[in-house]
Amino acid sequence: YCQLSRLAIAAGKRYFGSATDNPELSDSPYVAQLGNTADFNQITEGNSMKWDATEPSRGTFTFANGDVVANLARSKGQLLRGHNCVWHSQLPGWVTAGNFNNATLLSIVQNHCNTLVSHYRGQMCQLYFTSLEPMITNSPSDVTVHVTTDSWDVVNEPFNDDGTFRQSVFFQTTGTAYIATALRAAHDADPNTKLYINDFNIEGTGAKSTGMANLVRSLKDQGVPIDGIGVQAHLIVGAVPSTLRQNLQNFANLGVEVAITELDIRMTLPATQALLAQQQRDYQTVIAACKAVSACVGVTVWDYTDKYSWVPGTFSGQGAACPWDANLAKKPAYQGIVNGWTQ
Ligand code: G3I
Repeated sequence: YCQLSRLAIAAGKRYFGSATDNPELSDSPYVAQLGNTADFNQITEGNSMKWDATEPSRGTFTFANGDVVANLARSKGQLLRGHNCVWHSQLPGWVTAGNFNNATLLSIVQNHCNTLVSHYRGQMCQLYFTSLEPMITNSPSDVTVHVTTDSWDVVNEPFNDDGTFRQSVFFQTTGTAYIATALRAAHDADPNTKLYINDFNIEGTGAKSTGMANLVRSLKDQGVPIDGIGVQAHLIVGAVPSTLRQNLQNFANLGVEVAITELDIRMTLPATQALLAQQQRDYQTVIAACKAVSACVGVTVWDYTDKYSWVPGTFSGQGAACPWDANLAKKPAYQGIVNGWTQ
């Protein structure tokens, strides 16, 4: 019973999940644990629904890799998070500043989001029903909590760390107009999926979190569809912001749900017992913050094993950020997650 998604559901949440990526799916032991729905009743595809993967040339859509992950989720009855519609990174070369005027780029954003979210609409509906069965077995009295569809990161990382808008091709060409365009296009494509804006360094209170809150407040004032704020939570051992719980509550007070969407907690290598023990406490702190905020609907780790973590490739000398080690053995962090859901 002491497994991660079961405990999340027992704590009143929708899910505990993991990111994954297509190259990892040829690793059978990895796939077996990924499909263990007692630990993970949700997955997010780490790369295969991004713009470069799904619309490599204008108007030509390819969903093959995304479909592999979506079908895997469906076969296991796991919820699926779409990631993502509009982001400044991993764009195909044709989406470049100066190539398009305001009206043209808005229509490109509209078409991309609408086509992408439409493609996965049916999948998400089926996931919604197949997901109920294991949950009913887990917690019969709580069934209504889980009657919901899943989510899309419609806009990813729109802010600079000081809370101003990032100078992406989208912002440079359209100002903030692309954000409402993307959200409306996603809503038109699937009125049931939860529409999120997702960013990093918005775990604690501060300028970037204030910028996110101001954006969401203004979108709601204008009647733009927005359901949630995704808090990525790429964190550092020993440095979980002390205002995390308060900040999640501040976001929830805007009238949206929140989710921890990309959790990992990295350290400077080598991993010592002391660092792994601190990491256990840090995972517990993050999970407990989500548990304490009723509008926090779930937590996703940005892959469950150090074997496939993005961290060492980006931060030289750092790693060991995930709850399973590179041999697919559980680390103390696993117990930290258990403790967070049950404390
Ligand atoms: O597909 C190519 C492959 O053909 C080539 O041989 C290989 C050689 O390096 O690169 C492959 O592309 C890599 C891609 O992942 C797919 O594996 C890129 O180099 C690599 O940069 C890319 O990294 C991804 C990163 O986003 C890009 O910014 C990570 O896997 C992915 O985990 C990471 O995820 C992001 C979230 O989307 C948003 N939040 C932050 C998070 C971590 O950076």
